[in-house]
Amino acid sequence: MQITTIILAAGKGTRMRSELPKVMHKIAGKSLLEHVYQTSKQLPGNAIKVVIGHGADFIREKLSHIDVNWVEQFQQLGTGHAVQQATGQIGDDDVVLVLYGDVPLLKFATVQNLLEKADKETLALLTINLDNPTGYGRIIRDTSGRVAKIVEQKDATPLELAITEVNTGIMAVNGLKLKKWLFQLGNDNFQGEYYLTDIVEMAVADGVLVVTSQPQSSNEVLGVNNRLQLSQLERLYQQGQAEMLLEQGVTLMDPSRFDLRGNITQLGQDIEIDVNVVLEGQLDLGNNVKIGANTHIKNAVIGDNVEIFANCVIENAVVGANSRIGPFARLRPGTVLAKDVHIGNFVELKNAVVAEHSKINHLSYIGDANLGRHVNIGAGTITCNYDGVNKFMTTIGDGAFIGSNSQLVAPVTVGTNATIGAGSTITKDCPDNQLTLARAKQLTLSGWQRPVKKGA
Ligand code: UD1
Ligand code: CA
Repeated sequence: MQITTIILAAGKGTRMRSELPKVMHKIAGKSLLEHVYQTSKQLPGNAIKVVIGHGADFIREKLSHIDVNWVEQFQQLGTGHAVQQATGQIGDDDVVLVLYGDVPLLKFATVQNLLEKADKETLALLTINLDNPTGYGRIIRDTSGRVAKIVEQKDATPLELAITEVNTGIMAVNGLKLKKWLFQLGNDNFQGEYYLTDIVEMAVADGVLVVTSQPQSSNEVLGVNNRLQLSQLERLYQQGQAEMLLEQGVTLMDPSRFDLRGNITQLGQDIEIDVNVVLEGQLDLGNNVKIGANTHIKNAVIGDNVEIFANCVIENAVVGANSRIGPFARLRPGTVLAKDVHIGNFVELKNAVVAEHSKINHLSYIGDANLGRHVNIGAGTITCNYDGVNKFMTTIGDGAFIGSNSQLVAPVTVGTNATIGAGSTITKDCPDNQLTLARAKQLTLSGWQRPVKKGA
């Protein structure tokens, strides 16, 4: 069975009050349209067409990495007209699946259930029952309970308005028949639009059976029309992410204060995550990882038994097993820490490789640097890696001890087991095993007296 998916995404989304086309707004850091794309992409051999209109160029450019056929609908004349624009290369025997670019929480299982019901002689509709069906097209059934047609809210009689089974808009239908029915669509209705929903009545007239299927939860078919709904769907999505992690054995101190905007590709056992943690991009978390409150981690590999204390920011970094980070530490891109490294409070690292058992415990900036094993960096140490134009490397050998408040002016190398006296400004390489100091000598003037106020 060849499936063609048509995703409708031409609408402007006026109520978003935004420059962005509606489907480019994001849930969990990913555009609404990409959510729908990734769900439909799971169908093997599926050809995906996306109907775009408002912001078409922008959408094509921003989503150039997704494998779809873009179809432009120059005027938004209705959902039937939109689907019509995309019927070009659809095979007569294809099953056409219609999805919506602004309905991002739809589950793959729901799509599969719907597709199982569709064939040449059967049109499958995804419907839901709502206590308050206002705004939706109503599913009209005949006396024997078979679907007869869909009536839009604005075209419905009071009796029809009382029906609580509504159209989600999502359907699966035979290609040849769809093309035929779309061709026959008129726009003689309250909104003067070509309604896709009108094909249901045509199907019935042609002796095609219309069957319905329901999603597991009505949340799956919620659409985004304004920022309130966007925020509600974000929370629903995050609730789902949190529940998935809880099921996989992660402790979340508060599932409602956790955000995952990406994927955890490796998930260890007995991970504990405190409140207000945001995980973004691609993450690999080892066994027994503990993440403290208010920490943001993006694209990182965190080894076994790592403890990250509260208020850390970590991006494009690798943290080796048994290391301790923070509180209040920032690991910027290119930070690679080996096993058992301690990074303490108010320490910033960038493009820095630190070997095993080294410690940078307080108030330091280590950028463009290579640190050996068992290095101890004193409080307030700064690698001066930038001369205003170029960046330079600092290399520190195994076992080196850098006294507090030292500046290492790169390019510079500190030798193995070298010691740097506190308060030094180091501009030349420092030899192995020796103490190097670069600071004014302390002196005391005996007999010196403080000045006194005139006339006092
Ligand atoms: C549609 C259904 C309605 C259903 C509801 C579910 C029709 C006629 N009605 O109504 O039965 O209950 O969805 O939410 O289909 N779009 C285009 N081009 C157009 C028109 C719309 O791409 O010319 C896209 C919109 O961007 C949107 C989607 O299609 O993503 C739905 O369009 P919308 O106008 O919101 O339809 P509804 O009135 O909500
Ligand atoms: Ca709508």
